[in-house]
Amino acid sequence: MERLQKVMAHAGVASRRKAEVMIETGHVKVNGKQVTEMGILVSDQDVIEVDGLPIQNEKLVYYLFYKPRGVITAVTDDKGRKVVTDYLTDVPERIYPVGRLDYDTSGLLLLTNDGEFSQRLTHPKHEVDKIYVTKIKGRPQPKDLYSLKKGIVIDGRKTAPAAYKILSSDRTTNSTIIELTIHEGRNHQVKKMFEIAGFPVIKLKRERYGHLDLAGLRPGEFRELNKKEIAILLQTSK
Ligand code: URA
Repeated sequence: MERLQKVMAHAGVASRRKAEVMIETGHVKVNGKQVTEMGILVSDQDVIEVDGLPIQNEKLVYYLFYKPRGVITAVTDDKGRKVVTDYLTDVPERIYPVGRLDYDTSGLLLLTNDGEFSQRLTHPKHEVDKIYVTKIKGRPQPKDLYSLKKGIVIDGRKTAPAAYKILSSDRTTNSTIIELTIHEGRNHQVKKMFEIAGFPVIKLKRERYGHLDLAGLRPGEFRELNKKEIAILLQTSK
């Protein structure tokens, strides 16, 4: 038996706190009866409905996907463009992406049907490192990138300090390959950071997410996370 709000969060309905509000405000029924008090315990056998629609007590699944460039981080697209779940067609559970990568960004993306896990990893206070490799226009000197290390103001808010490593630099194409480590996940964060520093991003790939990398996968391929990998992610996002 589990608490109703926990089961709702696991089913990806909402965070535990939002699920509590939904219960209190009369949106939830268990076995056809409206429930508004907190703390009720439910099992696999109970039918839970939110606004009249049954939620599914699905097995919780976790996937690591190598997102190719030119794919939307979503489960549907009203313009008919390719979405990430087009690549995971034999997964029966209703999975969705954890955070997002831009259409033109490739790399490591997690997908799950565990709402709580997803909320936890994408919450700004959790410090899961994300490592990006980017090709930027220009050949910066360390002083040009000092602001990235210190924190840079994006949309009125300073970013947390980031770490970077210059991997290579090409005089003929006037470009540089840089590895950047950040733990936040603000919208277009890496592109904005380099744009503000004066070195627009030409190409972007997420190489690592916490302790996970893309080893063994080609663009468009995916694999399930094992129990240990899930446990480490939850540990590092505390
Ligand atoms: N930062 C970006 O600018 N784009 C991404 O897709 C991910 C991080």
